[in-house]
Amino acid sequence: MRGSYNGCGLNVLSLLIFVLSQFVEGFSVENYVQKPAPGPIGRERIDLNRGWRFLRSTTNPDNLIYDERPDTLISNETVILKPWILPSANNFINDPAKQHERPDGNPGSEVPFVQGSFDDSEWDIVNLPHDWAIKGPFYTEEDAIVGGGMGRLPIHGISWYRRKLSLDRADKGKSIYLDIDGAMSYAMVWLNGNLVGGWPFGYSSFRLDLTPYLKAGEDNQLAIRLDNPTDSSRWYPGGGIYRNVWLTKVNPTHVAQWGTFVSTREVSSQSAEVDIVVDVENNGDTDSKVAVSTDIHAFDAVTGKAGDKVAEFQREVVHLDAGQKISINSSTTVENPQLWGPLPAKTPYLYIAVTKLFDKHKAIDTYETRFGIRSLTFDGERGLSVNGEHIRIQGVNQHHDLGALGAAFNTRAAERQLENLQNLGCNAIRMAHNPPATELLDLTDRMGFLVIDESFDCWEREKTANDYHLLFPDWHEPDLRSFIRRDQNRPSVIAWSVGNEVGEQYTEEAGAALAQKLHDIAHEEDPTRPATASMNYAKPNMSFPHAVDLISLNYQGEGIRDTPPYDGLEGITTPPLYPGFHKEFPEKLMFGSETAATLSTRGTYLFPVTNESSAPALDKEGGGGDPVSRRVSAYELYTAEFGSSPDKVFATQDDYPYVAGEFVWAGWDYLGEPEPYYLARSSYFGIIDLAGFRKDSYYLYQSRWRPDLRIAHILPHWNWPDRLGQVTPVHVFSAADEAELFLNGVSQGRQTKEASNYRFRWDDIVYRPGELLVTTYKDGEEWANSTVRTTGEAGQLRLTADRTDIRADGNDLSFVTLEVLDNEGNLVPSADNTTMFSLSGPGEIVATDNGDPADMVSFATTERKAFNGYALAIVRAKVDSSGTIILRATGMGFQHAEVILQSEV
Ligand SMILES: *[C@@H]1O[C@H](CO)[C@@H](O)[C@H](O)[C@H]1NC(C)=O
Ligand SMILES: *[C@@H]1O[C@H](CO)[C@@H](O)[C@H](O)[C@H]1NC(C)=O
Ligand SMILES: *[C@@H]1O[C@H](CO)[C@@H](O)[C@H](O)[C@H]1NC(C)=O
Ligand SMILES: *[C@@H]1O[C@H](CO)[C@@H](O)[C@H](O)[C@H]1NC(C)=O
Ligand SMILES: *[C@@H]1O[C@H](CO)[C@@H](O)[C@H](O)[C@H]1NC(C)=O
Ligand SMILES: *[C@@H]1O[C@H](CO)[C@@H](O)[C@H](O)[C@H]1NC(C)=O
Repeated sequence: MRGSYNGCGLNVLSLLIFVLSQFVEGFSVENYVQKPAPGPIGRERIDLNRGWRFLRSTTNPDNLIYDERPDTLISNETVILKPWILPSANNFINDPAKQHERPDGNPGSEVPFVQGSFDDSEWDIVNLPHDWAIKGPFYTEEDAIVGGGMGRLPIHGISWYRRKLSLDRADKGKSIYLDIDGAMSYAMVWLNGNLVGGWPFGYSSFRLDLTPYLKAGEDNQLAIRLDNPTDSSRWYPGGGIYRNVWLTKVNPTHVAQWGTFVSTREVSSQSAEVDIVVDVENNGDTDSKVAVSTDIHAFDAVTGKAGDKVAEFQREVVHLDAGQKISINSSTTVENPQLWGPLPAKTPYLYIAVTKLFDKHKAIDTYETRFGIRSLTFDGERGLSVNGEHIRIQGVNQHHDLGALGAAFNTRAAERQLENLQNLGCNAIRMAHNPPATELLDLTDRMGFLVIDESFDCWEREKTANDYHLLFPDWHEPDLRSFIRRDQNRPSVIAWSVGNEVGEQYTEEAGAALAQKLHDIAHEEDPTRPATASMNYAKPNMSFPHAVDLISLNYQGEGIRDTPPYDGLEGITTPPLYPGFHKEFPEKLMFGSETAATLSTRGTYLFPVTNESSAPALDKEGGGGDPVSRRVSAYELYTAEFGSSPDKVFATQDDYPYVAGEFVWAGWDYLGEPEPYYLARSSYFGIIDLAGFRKDSYYLYQSRWRPDLRIAHILPHWNWPDRLGQVTPVHVFSAADEAELFLNGVSQGRQTKEASNYRFRWDDIVYRPGELLVTTYKDGEEWANSTVRTTGEAGQLRLTADRTDIRADGNDLSFVTLEVLDNEGNLVPSADNTTMFSLSGPGEIVATDNGDPADMVSFATTERKAFNGYALAIVRAKVDSSGTIILRATGMGFQHAEVILQSEV
C-alpha cells in the first residue's frame, strides 16, 4: 500500500516534505543494552550478539557459492544457491509476477558446518558486531591482494558464524524471525541444516522467517555463511556480521517488518496532521481478526522514555486470512506540537507512536515508531527550509567505518564522531554511499542532524570487478525498497540518494531512464521526500538531471581542474556548474553533495608552500606531497586532482547564494581510498583524522560555520630547527575580518580579509624560534588572540579520557588521548616516539591509532608510535564487571602517565 507518488509536487518548486520517524520495534534507543528491555506486550526482541563461533577461510571450504562471479572458479562440484536466496527478497518486489519461487531441495545441507552435530569448539569465539579484517595485519606490498583502495586489510574470504538458539515452551505457536542489520557480504542462513534464505548486499538490513525450521528446546543450530570478495568496493567494506543481530518473537498476527509509516502535514506550532499507515500481517495457518490502535506520546530519546499521550488514531478492526497482509491508514491531529529541527538553531523533539493489536480485549502485539513532526521545503532560490525557516546545509560526507574499530558498528564511537562534527558547526551528514547502521540514525534523529540517506555507489555499470553491479539486476528493487521502508520514519532523513557518481551518467538516455526508474521506486515507497543521485559528470543539458528532484553536484559546482594550478592534469575539466544548472533547473534545490576533497596529513607541513588558494597535491617542490613519507602538507590548500581547497569552495558558494549548502568530502578520515598514496591504508580527505584528532581545516570550517565563535587558529607549529632564516608561511583561520601577526613581539603586518578570502596568510615570514601571536578584530572590535611557541624537547606524557565513567556492557568505550609534552606542558608537535599502553582492571584495550594514514602497524597492538604529538587508545569495559580501570602509557624513558576510568554495570 505504499502510495503511488503523485507526480506534481516534486517538479514544482517548494516541495513540502514532512516527517517521520523511526521504528524501534519495542527496544531501547541504545545498543549498549544487551538484555531485552521488559518488552512491550506481545513482542520480544532479543539481542543475539554474544557467543558465536567463527571460522574464516581464504579458500572455499564448502563448494557453495551465491552465483558465478569474475573472481571465482566454478567446478562441477560447486553448488550455486542463488535460486534459493532470491525468494528472501519477495516482500520488497512489488510485481507479483517478478517474485521468486523457491525451488525444491535443500542445498548445503550436507556441509558439516550447517549441522548441529558439527564440533566447532576449535573455532574462535566472537561477539557481534564483528569485523574479522580490522585486526590486520595490513598488506604493505605494491600488488597486494587487497590494495590501498580497500584499506590493505584482509577483508576477503568465506566465513561461517555458528551459534545455538533456544526455543521456550512459551514460544510455541509464535512467529520467530532473525533480523540481521548488516552482514558483509552474500549472507546465507541455515537453521537445523535447512537453508532459510539470505541477502547478498552487505549494507542491507534483512529479516528471515525461522518459524518453519525451529524445534522446541535449546538445540537449534544457526549457521551463517558470508563470502566477501576482493575488488568489491572503492573503500574498506569490512568483513563479517558487522551490525547487530536480533531474534524477534511475535504472535502470528503482528505488525509487519518496518510495518509503520508515519508522516506529517500542515505543520505549524499550533497543530500538525499526522498520517499513519500500519501493515498488519498474519503469518499463521488460520485467519484472524484484530483491532488496531495507535497512540502518540512525546518521547525523550536520551532516557528512552515515552511521555504524555498527545493524540490517538481511530481504532480499526481488520480480518486477515492466513498469510494475508493488510494496510490500514489513519490520520489525527497533534495540537501545539514540539517540532523537530536540526541543532543548533532548532531542537530535535521526538514523538513515539505506540501501535497495539488486540485479539478481543487482549493485547497481542505492541510496535513502537519514533518520529518527528517537521516540514521541509526545497526551493531552487531559497534552498532548504525546516519548519518554514531557512537552514543552510553545513554538511559532511561520512563513510561507515569507525577507524581503528573497523566496520563493526559501535554506538559510542559513532556518537563521538557526531559530537566532534556538531562542535565543528556541522548540521548535516551524507551517508556515503550505502545504508548506514540504524543506530547511527537514532543518533542523527536525537542529536538533530539533517541526513541524505544513500543506497548505492553503482548501478549496472561497474566501478570495481566484484561490486554491486553483479547484484543490481536482481536486487536493486528489494535493496532500495527495504532501505526506504527501514528508514522512512526518521525525522533526520530529508532526502533519498539512489546513486553516487554512477556510470549511467555517461550513457545518455539509457542511463537517465535507469535513474528515473530508481527515482520512481523511491517515490512509490515514500511520496514525502525527494529522491536524488549525485552527479560528478552529468551536465545541465543532459537527460540525467531531469530524473532527480534535487541537483546534487559532486565537485562540479565549484569547478573541476578549472584553475591554472590544475592545468595539464589528465581528466575532465569543468567550469563551476552551479549557474548552468540553476538556469536549466531554476526550481530545483541545488547543493554540493561532495565538495573540497582537500588532502592533508594532520600536523605535517611541507615547504615551499604554494602561493595559490587551491592546488593539486603533487610530488614536486611546492606540490605539497611527499611520496616517501606518504604525507600531504596540512596548509589545507592541496587537493585531489579533481578537488578544491575549502577556500575555493566557499568562494563559489558565496558567488551563487541560491546554492543550499555543501557536504564536504570528508568529515572524518576513513579506511581505504588513500588518495594520493595508495601504499597507505586510510584517507587524507578528512577534516578530522582517523583517530579523531582535528586537522587544521577543522578551524577553517569552524570559522565559517560558527562565525560567532571567537577563535583564531595559527598554522604551522613553530618548531623548525632546520628552517632557521627560511621563508615559513603562517596562516590564520578565524571569523575575524582583521588580524595582526607578531613574531617575537615584532609585527609582521596587519591584514584585512578581502571578499573571497577565507584565511589570513603571511607567506613571507622568515623562521626564527620563539613565539607567534595573532590578534584579531571583527567590525573594529577585538575578536580573539592566539599564540604558538617553539617548544622544548619531549619530556612527559599525558593521558586524557573523553569519558572516565563508562558502562560495563561490553560495548561502551573510552577514547583516551596520549599527548607528548615538553617539560612546560606544551605539545611537542613533531613527536613520533613509541608508547606502550597497558591496562589493569575490568577492561581491555580494543585498539590504538595515531591518525597517520601511512602507519601500517595493526590497530590491535598496544605499542604505538605517537604521530605529530598524539596517539589514541580505545578502552572497553568488560561485561558485567564494575570497577576501576587504570590505563598506563610508558616509553621514551619518561615517567609513565595514567588515567583512571570507572566502569559500572
Ligand atoms: C492510504 O494511504 C495511501 C498512501 O499513503 C493512499 O494512496 C491511500 O489513498 C490512503 N487510503 C485511504 C483510505 O486514506
Ligand atoms: C567433476 O569433474 C571431474 C573432472 O572433470 C570428474 O572427474 C568428476 O567425476 C566430476 N564430478 C562430478 C560430481 O560430476
Ligand atoms: C552540453 O553542454 C556542453 C558544455 O557544458 C557542450 O560541450 C555540449 O556540446 C552540450 N551538448 C549538447 C548535446 O548540447
Ligand atoms: C604564484 O607564483 C607564480 C610563479 O611565481 C605566479 O605565476 C602566479 O601568478 C602566482 N599566483 C598567485 C595567486 O599569486
Ligand atoms: C590580544 O593581544 C593584544 C596584544 O598583545 C592585547 O592588547 C589584548 O589585550 C589581547 N586580547 C585578548 C582578548 O587577550
Ligand atoms: C623521540 O623521538 C625523537 C625522534 O624520533 C628522538 O630524537 C628522541 O630521542 C626520542 N626521545 C626519546 C626520549 O626516546
